[in-house]
Amino acid sequence: PLPAPFQVPLPIPAVLNPVARNPDADRYEIVQREATMEILPGTRTPIWGYQGTFPGPTIESRSGRTAVVVHRNELPVPTVVHLHGGHTPADSDGYTTDLVLPAGGTHTAHAGMHDPAAKVTQVEREYVYPLRQKAATLWYHDHRMDFTGPAVYRGLAGFHLVRDDEEDSLPLPRGERELPLMIADRAFAEDGSMRYPSIDPTLHTVHGVEESYVEGVLGDVILVNGAPWPVAEVSATRYRLRVLNASNARRYDLALDPPPPGGQAFTQIGSDQGLLDAPRVHDHVTVAPAERFDLVVDFGRYPIGSEVTLVNRLGAGGTAHVMRFRVTRRATEDSHIPDRLADIEPLDRTQATVTREFSFRGGRIGDRHGWTIGGHPFSPTRTDVRPRLGDVEIWRFVADVHHPIHLHLVHFRVLSRGDREPGPYDAGRKDTVDLRPGEAVEVIARFDGYRGRYMFHCHNLEHEDMGMMANFEVF
Ligand code: C2O
Ligand code: CU
Repeated sequence: PLPAPFQVPLPIPAVLNPVARNPDADRYEIVQREATMEILPGTRTPIWGYQGTFPGPTIESRSGRTAVVVHRNELPVPTVVHLHGGHTPADSDGYTTDLVLPAGGTHTAHAGMHDPAAKVTQVEREYVYPLRQKAATLWYHDHRMDFTGPAVYRGLAGFHLVRDDEEDSLPLPRGERELPLMIADRAFAEDGSMRYPSIDPTLHTVHGVEESYVEGVLGDVILVNGAPWPVAEVSATRYRLRVLNASNARRYDLALDPPPPGGQAFTQIGSDQGLLDAPRVHDHVTVAPAERFDLVVDFGRYPIGSEVTLVNRLGAGGTAHVMRFRVTRRATEDSHIPDRLADIEPLDRTQATVTREFSFRGGRIGDRHGWTIGGHPFSPTRTDVRPRLGDVEIWRFVADVHHPIHLHLVHFRVLSRGDREPGPYDAGRKDTVDLRPGEAVEVIARFDGYRGRYMFHCHNLEHEDMGMMANFEVF
């Protein structure tokens, strides 16, 4: 039986301490291991966790200060770690075949995975993140070719927050009034285990999910920071909510119930890659998988004693609710939202050297349903695009069904949606864009920083695992 909603206190993932600091780098160690967790009250759920927790520990870094993260794989399968949103050299970006093998593991590449360029390591790997980028809500997660969906579903995801002086100088809510919220849906079996419809439950050879889940795996329980429909007690002040949709396939349309007097529940201050130039207000916010929205909610607009539910207008039954806030006390307000937030480099059409077009569609892969980019399922040995280092390019995407499209390495701006102005949720520096059925989206990015092989893909993890990924090589 599912738990009653709004009973479990909202957990906040622990912040990981570095094992060493030197003048310009922090060194971290993370062990990926199996564990059990009480997710549904009274039952134990086996998970795969960074440090044995779900979400994994939060890493907090300063912009421009290198974070070195050594991951040790004690799981029964190979893993790959990607820092989503990180501006990262290619050899630390977690390319999908750069496996970290478990102890005693051999390189059991399944059919189709053979990649002579893969950099495979035994048991451990050191990922180096220079973090020459603005303050932003990044996250890290598994990225193994063909098996990302089930690995993330079992728990391999965590926050990596980057802070900088520009953001610190603003009077935004901070400390306990800044809440990271990792939203993810899951389904559970009777015994408390997570139910993921893999064709091969060992996650070793055959990839993909049962035919009825090829559109994406949805659960009927909404977790925030690993807790089902949690509740948080808040003071009647502003809070900063760093919302991450870490779901495999579910999109949310978040709103507050009841809405605050006058509407405008959310003041958006940031997007995937950090602060907007200026705040924007929304009654509701649509969040596709892997997108981040940095939202300020002013609970001071509600009477003490209010129960304010974060609802999902795209859900039904249990999935129509996400979590609840209980406004329990008065407190001194020490924040406000300035009219100007950050300087953002403008990018416009005239700077672009090329416009490329990509279609994201269902297709056949062998005798099974799969997903394609430009008509091709993923292959690690095919270079799909070669942007020149430093060039600005426009990429135009078209889709059959919903696909959240993510580019590694770069941040981009949305230039147009449906051949019109960008939509209300497209503002700011993005790395993932919510591509909707039949609607073309153009994004513009500068391919700078590092040369090498990177991926772009659909972040519906079942689509990604079943072919919807491609390579770009910055040269
Ligand atoms: Cu969030 Cu290529 O991933
Ligand atoms: Cu997709």
